[in-house]
Amino acid sequence: MLTEFTPTIPESELLEGTMQGLELGDERVLIAKIDGEIYAINNICSHFHTYLSNGDLIIDRLEVQCPLHDSCFSLKTGEPADIPAEDPVEVYGVKIDGGVICVGPRAA
Ligand code: FES
Repeated sequence: MLTEFTPTIPESELLEGTMQGLELGDERVLIAKIDGEIYAINNICSHFHTYLSNGDLIIDRLEVQCPLHDSCFSLKTGEPADIPAEDPVEVYGVKIDGGVICVGPRAA
């Protein structure tokens, strides 16, 4: 769980329509940029321990598809759109500070 905003990479390094996996302390985070908006969710699939960032970004649905069993997770809510995953992944807050993407707790 992220308790404060943590600097990651320069915003310019995250290209439009791409995603990237990051390690922030003990947290595994996936960041993605779609239509200039940056999203951050937990990078570990809730179904089994695999990295969502090794899957596919579904740009028109704002989802990422797990590489192992194909469940798709919303980048906005973390909820799975289909089985076998049933539980959501955590969604993080994103801020840009001095051109750097900062990831932290989601606003309540
Ligand atoms: S490990 Fe992701 S859907 Fe099974």
